Amino acid sequence: MKKVLVIGAGAREHALAQAFLRSEQVEQVIVAPGNDGMTDDGLRRAAVAVTDLQGLRDLAVAEAVDLTFVGNEEPLTLGVVDAFRQAGLQIFGPTQAAAQLEGSKSFTKRILDQYNIPTAQSRTVTNHTAAQAAVTEFGLPIVFKLDGLALGKGVTIVTTATQAADYLTDLYTRQPEAKLVIESYLDGVEFSIFSLVGQDGVVTHAPLAQDHKRRFDQDKGPNTGGMGAYSPVRWLSAEVRQQAIDTLVMPTIAAMAKEGTPFTGVLYTGVMLTAEGPKVIEFNVRFGDPEAQVVLPQY
Ligand code: AMP
Ligand code: GLY
Repeated sequence: MKKVLVIGAGAREHALAQAFLRSEQVEQVIVAPGNDGMTDDGLRRAAVAVTDLQGLRDLAVAEAVDLTFVGNEEPLTLGVVDAFRQAGLQIFGPTQAAAQLEGSKSFTKRILDQYNIPTAQSRTVTNHTAAQAAVTEFGLPIVFKLDGLALGKGVTIVTTATQAADYLTDLYTRQPEAKLVIESYLDGVEFSIFSLVGQDGVVTHAPLAQDHKRRFDQDKGPNTGGMGAYSPVRWLSAEVRQQAIDTLVMPTIAAMAKEGTPFTGVLYTGVMLTAEGPKVIEFNVRFGDPEAQVVLPQY
């Protein structure tokens, strides 16, 4: 392998590109579209947007790229992996169908429930009345998750009945048929596992990382997409990590294969360690940002 294309523009893609450059097998790394900070590091940039699947495929062909690695979720949910594979190009990431694990929270909850993989109890609703009923059933605090790609902003945790009522009134006034996943609140500590999954199964589980999600001191503020991260996560025992891999990660990979939508790429499992053991909070289908920036330098 000589030439690698990384798709994305942020610090995560910078860390990915630098990790590839450290490999003896890699001679050149192109990032599309990349950012200004990258050119100082011997990385090449190509002015193709992450959503321009045709442009990305043309770039990979024109540059005779040996491997493409997708950094961010948007092209994955648009089907960049399917487009590249159809053209006979090597690319690392999930197909559009498998990327639903991040793109659709209702899809994910269906898979988790159907295969008895531990996660918060939930209901997917599409109207105000059903949403109110779910709030009454699950009690407070409660978690609202908008279906679809949220870029870190689709999850709202509310702690009072007034907040819940206001949230639902606002949402269903704007979008009367909004698809909402309503979840019971999981108490515990969070960590993330990044599993690199090839066509023959898991290649490796990267060192654990944890990001700082909520604004303000003592985690009192609203959720963000992650404002910083650290790795390794030393407070977590090897046993609990393995338990999460055995009970959450591997069964999900097996379930996706059974569903006819096998997963390849980076499976990011967001885990809540509860009193009842580890449970899935969410999946992403690519490295975390900013977690990649602290995980990848360890390679
Ligand atoms: P994300 O889905 O990455 O945007 O972030 C959602 C964040 O909301 C998670 O990292 C948790 O901190 C929190 N969260 C999501 N679901 C739950 C839940 N059921 N119980 C408690 N906290 C949750
Ligand atoms: N840091 C969280 C994420 O990448 O979604």
